[in-house]
Amino acid sequence: MRKKIIAGNWKMNMTPSEAVKLVETLKPLVNNPDVDVVFCVPAIDLIPVAEAAKGSNIQVGAENMYFEDKGAYTGEISPLMLTDAGIKYVVLGHSERREYFAETNETVNKKMLKAFEHGITPIMCCGESLQQREQGVTMDFIRQQVKVGFLGVTADQAKTAVIAYEPIWAIGTGKTATTEQAQEVCKDIRACIAEIYDAATAEAIRIQYGGSVNAETAPDLFAQPDIDGGLVGGASLKPDFGKIVNYK
Ligand code: PGA
Repeated sequence: MRKKIIAGNWKMNMTPSEAVKLVETLKPLVNNPDVDVVFCVPAIDLIPVAEAAKGSNIQVGAENMYFEDKGAYTGEISPLMLTDAGIKYVVLGHSERREYFAETNETVNKKMLKAFEHGITPIMCCGESLQQREQGVTMDFIRQQVKVGFLGVTADQAKTAVIAYEPIWAIGTGKTATTEQAQEVCKDIRACIAEIYDAATAEAIRIQYGGSVNAETAPDLFAQPDIDGGLVGGASLKPDFGKIVNYK
């Protein structure tokens, strides 16, 4: 049985002092030992959030990372900085990074390899636009994202990875994919992992759904056989996140 993983994606929200207050508020609400709970937060919030989360079940993740250890890359954050700060997760290839910051499947792949090299668990995002869904190329597009994203990743590494399926049309729009749509794509992503690797890897890898998840939609979504939790944006900044983590 795969353990559910429910991650908040704070995006570009919360100053360091606001972040600490939010962790204090959420700490008692997200205490569910059956679920891995991860707060993915802006770089400047990582250390105060990790500090504030001490002694709780909250694990901390970054929202991005560069694919070199160090050097002349002004403005970037390296995997060494993350591991030294005790950060165990990183979101890679979020659609907002692909759209606004020119991330490609190739740069996501370099970051994936780098994250594994340093023992950081990647939460690799994929997902189609509304146009792609309407044109019937959803799975062609997602397969490409997954196949290139995992190039050179070993089966043992892939088993520990997290994939977040986030249809772009459902992000921040209040328009959640139906449970059936979300399950169908997550199942196909698992089949794609089985093709790249083997059945055991597909069985082990955790696949989240993301896109306007809230306390009402979470129970049905997370009950699906191929949905192992969620990547939650807007609702992760509110006490409602406690309800999502305790969806059962
Ligand atoms: P949302 O964001 O829950 O606000 O739609 C999800 C995400 O972008 O990870």
